[in-house]
Amino acid sequence: MRVLGLETSCDETGIALYDSERGLLGHRVYSQIQVHAEYGGVVPELASRDHIRKAKPLIQEVLDDAGLTLEQVDGIAFTSGPGLVGALLVGACLGNSLAWALNIPAIGVHHMEGHLLAPMLEDEQPDFPFIALLVSGGHTQLVKVEGIGRYELLGESLDDAAGEAFDKAAKMMNLPYPGGPALSALADQGDAQRFAFPRPMTDRPGLDFSFSGLKTFTRTTILNCAVDGVLAEQDKIDIAAGFQAAVVDTLAIKCKRAMQQTGVQRLIIAGGVGANRQLRAKLQTTAEALGGRVYYPRPELCTDNGAMIAYAGTQRLLAGQHSELAVSVVPRWPM
Ligand code: KG4
Ligand code: ZN
Repeated sequence: MRVLGLETSCDETGIALYDSERGLLGHRVYSQIQVHAEYGGVVPELASRDHIRKAKPLIQEVLDDAGLTLEQVDGIAFTSGPGLVGALLVGACLGNSLAWALNIPAIGVHHMEGHLLAPMLEDEQPDFPFIALLVSGGHTQLVKVEGIGRYELLGESLDDAAGEAFDKAAKMMNLPYPGGPALSALADQGDAQRFAFPRPMTDRPGLDFSFSGLKTFTRTTILNCAVDGVLAEQDKIDIAAGFQAAVVDTLAIKCKRAMQQTGVQRLIIAGGVGANRQLRAKLQTTAEALGGRVYYPRPELCTDNGAMIAYAGTQRLLAGQHSELAVSVVPRWPM
């Protein structure tokens, strides 16, 4: 079965073609970063318009790369939530219209299920069950994955998501949008020990997270270091390093705890923050110290993409599920 995947939940237009026999046939991601950069964050209306502009040509490019035509597609998967409602509607309208015109099934996919299953797009796939650390701009969750559609939430952030915390801390340091990758690049050169950033909620039992305290600590540290409102470059680098180390350590401590509590030795990382090099390295040593293994998608499949939606949709279509050809999306949708 060949499935066309459409991801339009936020500020990336992701299009992919997945074949249940041959794997990923191709994918393209168009990032709207330039469109939103001057506003310092995603402007929903501009996001919707850009998805409309880009989705169709990208579908053509993916089909051309694979040497296929639309008539050779057997199903359509689109992100139906959570996300920005206008942006989601673009993918849902396009997906349903294509399915109707081609007389093939369509399926709405949960964006986070896509992230969760992204490691399945790699050559080395984890067996079930595995523990998934989902770390994106909107979510920080630890999930026990028993199989497709069988997800148990073990813990989540009670306030900011890890990516959101990265983005907010970066904004305080006047780093360019999106802040996560910019802060991380700076942090890799700094002294993470210079400022005593806390490891929130690690001194009590449980698998929930809280990142808003790190934000406050960052703000206070910036205020203490700045002279006449200006932060010296070395201070900025060391604050970034301290912040990143605190997020990475906190995530690693909770992953270790989740693996120990469940006895599950396979850990996967998914979501945009999963592209963070320090986090990947730390989780690798954490899992190996427990005799386990960590699996992660290549960085381009950690951030938003159509391939993960095509994959998740394929599994659901193969299981006989499909959506009604009516356009409905779910901007807020617990998994
Ligand atoms: O999964 P994603 O692409 O979109 C959402 O569904 O949210 O994640 C985006 C988030 C942003 O907060 C971004 O700053 C963060 O992932 N991010 C990173 C890195 N690359 C992306 N955070 C830290 N280090 C990175 N290298
Ligand atoms: Zn995402």
